Amino acid sequence: MEPFRFHLFVCTQHKPEGIPSCAASGSFAVLDALDREIQARGLDNEVQLTTCGCMGLCDEGPVMVVYPAGVWYRRVQPADVAEIVGAHLRDGKPVDRLVWNDAAVMKALSVEHREKFRGAMAARDKAGMLPDHLDQMIRGFMPSRCILTALELDVFTAVGDGANAEQIGTRIHANARAACMLLNALVALGLLSKSGDDYKNTPESARFFVQGSKDNHRDGLLHTANIWHRWSTLTGAVRSGTSVPIDRGDDRKDDHDDANWTRNFITAMQRHAKDRAPLVVKALGTAGIHRILDLGGGSGAYSIAFAKAIPEVRCEILDIPEVVPLTAEYVSQAGVSARVGLRPGDMLRDDFGSGYDLIMLNAICHMFSEEQNQDIFRRAHQALAPHGRLVAQDFILNPDKTGPQHAALFSLNMLVGTDAGASYSEVEYNHWMKAAGFTEVSRINLPGPSSLIVGLGL
Ligand SMILES: C[S@@+](CC[C@H](N)C(=O)[O-])C[C@H]1O[C@@H](n2cnc3c(N)ncnc32)[C@H](O)[C@@H]1O
Ligand code: FES
Repeated sequence: MEPFRFHLFVCTQHKPEGIPSCAASGSFAVLDALDREIQARGLDNEVQLTTCGCMGLCDEGPVMVVYPAGVWYRRVQPADVAEIVGAHLRDGKPVDRLVWNDAAVMKALSVEHREKFRGAMAARDKAGMLPDHLDQMIRGFMPSRCILTALELDVFTAVGDGANAEQIGTRIHANARAACMLLNALVALGLLSKSGDDYKNTPESARFFVQGSKDNHRDGLLHTANIWHRWSTLTGAVRSGTSVPIDRGDDRKDDHDDANWTRNFITAMQRHAKDRAPLVVKALGTAGIHRILDLGGGSGAYSIAFAKAIPEVRCEILDIPEVVPLTAEYVSQAGVSARVGLRPGDMLRDDFGSGYDLIMLNAICHMFSEEQNQDIFRRAHQALAPHGRLVAQDFILNPDKTGPQHAALFSLNMLVGTDAGASYSEVEYNHWMKAAGFTEVSRINLPGPSSLIVGLGL
């Protein structure tokens, strides 16, 4: 049974470097072109497009098969896609020049390839070579560092509508030879394209990395570039049990010494928070909420979302003095300054006040030790009005703390970046909630990596 008129399987298999594969021959570009063309021709509901693993004809990739008839195409290029979609998927006539229908040859090639591949893998294993997945994980820092350096130097903006290495090198004040090497590596990573001597941004890099683009993430990503230096201290931090100073070979022993650190950090936080905030408002509801305390509110995204959702609500954001002027900018831009107050201070020491219907700890608990969190939960309980709630949003670990992967790695991010922070498990959050006097403690999972733990106060 085939529920769609046509069902396309496009091989997107990666294979170890040096072994032919559809991914290496460009099947992702073909997949992308097929998806666009099918949509453009309004064939979405007639054609199902599916990626698949190796079909055994890797020397002839990219390979795809169209069912129900089982028509095989080989060496498909993005330039062929319009013809395939128009002739075959719309008019029902396969494109003969690309169709491969010599079953005996296909089977023989497939068997031969399988035997060669198995032989190569067995030889590698016998020689004790590091498996590819381990090798890639270990060298994962190379692509990461390459992109972060490009962002730090603002390479993508310098590329603009297209430029050669010399022009780009001059614009980013870099050594010409080294700039050329970096640009070529960015092409290899699929973040730039190169034609002759000229480099161009890909649609993705133009959208996300170029200054002035609506979806530019560069400022927020510079926070990741800052974190890079901290992660270089991981070995020392694991030995000592807490964060250790960074030695970057200059006078700055701490990343916070960088004038842009705080702005980059809050920009990065805002990028995540502004999309999540409406989800949090929806998950918690607006009924009975008149006063909110937003502890460590950062950009104010969550208070802003509640202020927009509840016309009479009053919010108070408590954050450290360096951050509050940045918070003020976001709150003012959102036009809610009259109802969102700002309080510079320290949530570990300052009195929280009283009478709040909701106290929020969004992305806060991971910065602090268990004892500090217990103390915050206890004082928050005292600061709530009757029927008030405390909500903590964070990356929550499984009971044995080995996953989800993002939360487990983020715990190390806190090890290298704070005195005593970590990711915590739901068991720990429940324990702090109950010890502080909260009842009806529940977890709300939102799309994305973080969840809410909610407790009812008095
Ligand atoms: C990870 S950010 C989260 C920001 C915001 N809640 C969000 O989710 O977008 C942590 C925030 O807590 C603030 N913070 C850190 N230590 C603090 C303290 N002792 N008192 C008040 N705010 C603090 C930081 O300045 C930062 O704005
Ligand atoms: S990798 Fe695509 S057919 Fe083998």
